Amino acid sequence: MPSFAGQQKDAFIQSMKEFKSGERPSTVMGRLAKGYTDAEFEAMAGFFAKQKTFKTEQSVDNAKAAKGAQVAEQHCGKCHTDQGKTFKDEGTPIMAGQWLKYLQIQFEDYQSGKRQMTKNMANRMKLISAEEMDDLAHFYASVK
Ligand code: HEC
Repeated sequence: MPSFAGQQKDAFIQSMKEFKSGERPSTVMGRLAKGYTDAEFEAMAGFFAKQKTFKTEQSVDNAKAAKGAQVAEQHCGKCHTDQGKTFKDEGTPIMAGQWLKYLQIQFEDYQSGKRQMTKNMANRMKLISAEEMDDLAHFYASVK
């Protein structure tokens, strides 16, 4: 599960709408999201965006995280700015300190095509190997 205290408001709303429509794959979120209106998503997003970001305590592979940092700077930092602590455009999620397992699942879903990417992000992801994706997950999970 993602940690979403302090998550970017539009990214949260977009995720909830995509869960509701089935565009984003899920086990339980799709069913839950069907019970809420856009106005309620907006209200929830406003609440969570105002919370202090929660930095998860987790162990990562430091060698992988160091490799991931380089790939992130080269390919991802234009949109996921400041090591994923901030964002360039609204709708871009904050990833710094996110749970490792959650990030790994997102990469798997993107890679298999289960979860859709924006066109610009897909252009970058094409250049990344499966091993580098795992390095990236360790890197973003490690950012404090
Ligand atoms: C052109 C801007 C752009 C670039 C470059 C980009 N991203 Fe993204 N990223 C986005 C946007 C916008 C979203 C949210 C929309 C979506 O679901 O696709 C996102 C979502 C994500 C998510 C999902 C996070 C979550 O909590 O759901 C991950 C993981 C991610 N990006 C990783 C990366 C990595 C790693 C790179 C570099 C290889 C990268 N992105 C490059 C714009 C970008």
